[in-house]
Amino acid sequence: MLAIIGGSGLTTLSNLDVSHREVVRTPYGEPSGALVFGQICGKPAVFLPRHGYGHSIPPHMVNYRANLWALNHLQVSGVISVASVGGIRADLQPGDVVLPSQIIDYTWGRKSTYFDGVGSPVTHVDFTEPYDAELSRKIAEAAESLSIPVKVGGVYAATQGPRLETAAEINRLERDGADIVGMTGMPEAILARELGLPYAAISVIANHAAGRGSSANGIHFESLEHVLQSAMGQVRTIIEKVVGCQAACQPLGISV
Ligand code: HPA
Repeated sequence: MLAIIGGSGLTTLSNLDVSHREVVRTPYGEPSGALVFGQICGKPAVFLPRHGYGHSIPPHMVNYRANLWALNHLQVSGVISVASVGGIRADLQPGDVVLPSQIIDYTWGRKSTYFDGVGSPVTHVDFTEPYDAELSRKIAEAAESLSIPVKVGGVYAATQGPRLETAAEINRLERDGADIVGMTGMPEAILARELGLPYAAISVIANHAAGRGSSANGIHFESLEHVLQSAMGQVRTIIEKVVGCQAACQPLGISV
């Protein structure tokens, strides 16, 4: 069973035929919300909205450890993480879909490991390739078979938030080699790795990053909302294909 963690722009999974919800208790506290179980074209899947129902948990307050622990506890086969991001690279436009291949972590103060020395030996986990190659390949192939354009590869800069960046910070991130910027990529990716869970990300460009393109004088999400929603529709279709749907599913119109 595949797990999907949805972020801003994907707070529900309308193609999930919901069977039940489950509140999973974890040694790390409460996950962002009840896990929603169901089927996509008859294939089992579980959905978790990263920011909670009602979108009330900001990126720096998400209990990433509880979220990933809960999914691992359910023995999911992999995690597809969906999130909106800002585009730094000049060719990236709002609505573009990127499958990042690398991360730079600028977050601080988040609980970012299960190996925190409490009852466990010091452990250094290999993180050379932060995303699961096989799962990322499946996502890219699904998109290609559907003729949905995605940009394969790119460096995700994970910032602390919840504020957006300054133009100078974006210039610095670009000098560091980052292509996109978001607030939730870490520690989600490393926690999945520590648990041995295959984890891949689908990033949807919601806006030009601060100081760039249409954000030259400020970031205005409202005017870009329709672009984000339409791109998230494509992401849902890609996920259906990854889960194993043969043809496009009939939208169920069920909100979870
Ligand atoms: N910066 C950080 N996170 C984001 C952005 C951004 O510009 N857009 C969407 N998530």
